[in-house]
Amino acid sequence: MLPESFPYCFAPLDNLSNYVLRRLIASTLPSGTQMAFFSPAINPSSVIYKKINIRENLPVNPGEILYYNLMHGNPDIIAAGMEKMLELKPAGFNLNCGCSRSKIKKRDMPPVGVALMEHPALVADIIKTAKKNFPDVHFSIKIRAGVKHNLAALFDFCRQAEDAGADAIIFHARSAEDQFKRPARHQLFSELKKHVKVPLIGNGDIINDEQAVLIKEKYELGGIMIGRGALFSPGIFRAIACRLNGNPIPHPVMTQSEIKNFLLDFVNIMDNDFGTAVMLRRTRLLARWLCKSLEFGLTLDGNFHKAKTLKDTISFINDFFEKPKRQYREASL
Ligand SMILES: Cc1cc2nc3c(=O)[nH]c(=O)nc-3n(C[C@H](O)[C@H](O)[C@H](O)COP(=O)(O)O)c2cc1C
Repeated sequence: MLPESFPYCFAPLDNLSNYVLRRLIASTLPSGTQMAFFSPAINPSSVIYKKINIRENLPVNPGEILYYNLMHGNPDIIAAGMEKMLELKPAGFNLNCGCSRSKIKKRDMPPVGVALMEHPALVADIIKTAKKNFPDVHFSIKIRAGVKHNLAALFDFCRQAEDAGADAIIFHARSAEDQFKRPARHQLFSELKKHVKVPLIGNGDIINDEQAVLIKEKYELGGIMIGRGALFSPGIFRAIACRLNGNPIPHPVMTQSEIKNFLLDFVNIMDNDFGTAVMLRRTRLLARWLCKSLEFGLTLDGNFHKAKTLKDTISFINDFFEKPKRQYREASL
């Protein structure tokens, strides 16, 4: 599922892991390194009915290894959506069984996100239907430990998914009830590993290159998925590649000028491709994480909330990175 030479991937992140952010992350990698990416959650019926919201989530960058993260609970709608999405030549598909916003199944609607974990037979049906229609197309699932922690139910869910033909399991080692309030339980990787034969990809609270490589080795995982760690530091995958290749690891992982250019590229492309309103919303979302890794980053984060135009946004970025930080230091005394 993930390239053997680089089994580390960028997680699906709603409103964030669009082609723009993925392209910029890929551009940080040493030349010749190829990694896998996941789209934000896509509702396959939006694809079937060509709704506008897929304009940002559907495109595949040239040469990109992209898995579409599917958010639905109806086997036939998923298969019909896959047929349309295959025209764009993704590397495969991944069923979102982890989104905790959808803990509760809505009346008369199929369960979606983590609610699917309470319906193992339905998930097995989704996988079987996908595999029957597209036998050669990769189909994995992305799960949590459950709505609540229940190891027996987790193992049974994975066994049924595997028997139905799932090609890999991505495991965010938290329950939906945990939210992000408690640390991911990485020791669950070894518990689940005893129960699955397909590659197990570990996910949750993996936030630096050293930890990513150690956890993969320690639990003998098929790969590692990183979400927020790449928003805190978009150069994390480059640092992992350096570590794997035995090259010096850049310290800091990204220089201030690289982060500045990364942000400028992001806002310019987003504004050009989707307009200012979307650019502002996505930039604020990205900044919520990225600014945490910057000294006095809260100032920049706050300024993104004041910005109304591309020009404001660019000048806040330029000011933050070009002006001496002494003024912020004095202001915080
Ligand atoms: C802002 C945000 C958006 C997310 N959107 C999705 C999504 O669309 N589909 C999905 O399967 N998981 C989604 N997730 C969960 C992540 O893919 C990942 O499992 C989780 O953040 C834990 O990994 P991390 O600790 O490396 O961030 C989202 C998480 C965050 C923080």
